[in-house]
Amino acid sequence: MLTDSLFKKYDLPVPRYTSYPTVPYWSITPSKDQWIEHLNTALSKDQSSWSMYLHIPYCESLCTFCGCNTIITKNHQLEDFYVDLLLKEWSLYKNLVPAFATKPLKQLHLGGGTPTFLSAESLSRLLSTILADIKKDQNFEASIEVDPRRTSKDQLKALKQVGFNRVSMGVQDFNHEVQRLINRIQPYEITKNLTDDARELGFDSINYDLIYGLAQQTLKSFGDTIDKTIELRPDRIALYSFALVPWIKPAQRLFKDEDLPVADEKRGLYELARTRLTAAGYVEIGMDHFALPDENLSLALKNKTLHRNFMGYTDHKTDVLLGLGISSISESPYSFHQNEKVSALYEAAIQADQLPTHRGHVLNLEDIERRQQILKLMTNYEVSFINSDQRKSAQHYLAEMVKDNLVEITETTLKVTQAGKPFLRNACVFFDEHLKRKQPESKIFSKSI
Ligand SMILES: C[S@@+](CC[C@H](N)C(=O)[O-])C[C@H]1O[C@@H](n2cnc3c(N)ncnc32)[C@H](O)[C@@H]1O
Ligand code: SF4
Repeated sequence: MLTDSLFKKYDLPVPRYTSYPTVPYWSITPSKDQWIEHLNTALSKDQSSWSMYLHIPYCESLCTFCGCNTIITKNHQLEDFYVDLLLKEWSLYKNLVPAFATKPLKQLHLGGGTPTFLSAESLSRLLSTILADIKKDQNFEASIEVDPRRTSKDQLKALKQVGFNRVSMGVQDFNHEVQRLINRIQPYEITKNLTDDARELGFDSINYDLIYGLAQQTLKSFGDTIDKTIELRPDRIALYSFALVPWIKPAQRLFKDEDLPVADEKRGLYELARTRLTAAGYVEIGMDHFALPDENLSLALKNKTLHRNFMGYTDHKTDVLLGLGISSISESPYSFHQNEKVSALYEAAIQADQLPTHRGHVLNLEDIERRQQILKLMTNYEVSFINSDQRKSAQHYLAEMVKDNLVEITETTLKVTQAGKPFLRNACVFFDEHLKRKQPESKIFSKSI
């Protein structure tokens, strides 16, 4: 049985492990030749495949909780300018990595910011140009993050026309007072109508993003949000823990500490949502997702093929993830690569026909091994030790978590118990050699609960 004090004890700043090593510990940026060689090698294997992420950074207004890479503007003249830059970046890669034209693209994802900042015409131009160059996998999936306040049926139609089958809607919370505090008034009808439109147009899967831990959320108000969500029955739900990082996102300083639920109070919101969602038939996936039982994420969990990358949990594991656009992150089996985060630097590089490299990391053998282990634990709650020395070290390092019944250590494996699920990220730290060798000197990570 979990006590409140356990939530307080383990509510520590820890990474979310969408990559390993985590971004603050990247140290060896690949040269251009190395990065291109890594992509070409990864895609030279039989049966290799890839995914693409396109980042659209623009949003018309700022939600005060937001931790994403955004540019707040109402200037829609930027649309053509940015689509041209993305297409130029794509041309650079197309020429340097010929396999992008021949190896199957399994997944295409548009994220942001707000991808529906782009009009139906801009979306069509961007996507039809790229898709004309590539070969789609037979189970190809294309998804987009949309802000329901700024998405029209025409945009959804344009997306459907180029083969999009998944829509992810930012909802966060249905309560008006919470919405006022996060500067995001989004009446229930807007979300409902867009959900109806997406279903009518034949989108296969609808996801809602919700956040727990926002200012003024109570068990009563958040319970209502969950009930409304269940009524609308999205296929998937991402139930994110509010990541409070005011040292990176100054707008978050507008929240008063006393208004923000923390530790056991915050986790109570997740547990309430979990109880109601699972009672309504949803399956809990990883540390913050839920899906209907016949949804691909649930099937991937059951078949132990769940994967995790920069976009979060996914049922698609590919050899390469190519990220285009400001701040986008790409990954190969041997390295990570991030684009320039500052608009002017990104633009200058693309205009000069250069890859817009900001930073990256070439993985060494230890990184590759630990990356696999953290991935396994994050997706399956269980992982094998590489040898008995690692098991002994885990017994020592995780002794408190074992004593508190949050993890179990057998002869060969480390397993996170049901009670330990809220502390999955804490258990992963055991495999994080970079973090264990050197604690960050300043605040970097949000807290685990
Ligand atoms: C790019 S936004 C989604 C699309 C669109 N911009 C919108 O807001 O509807 C991605 C998601 O990240 C989540 N998110 C953003 N900042 C967060 C934070 N500080 N903590 C937890 N989740 C966050 C939100 O749930 C948000 O819907
Ligand atoms: S939550 Fe979405 S709309 Fe709001 S600022 Fe962040 S990216 Fe933009």
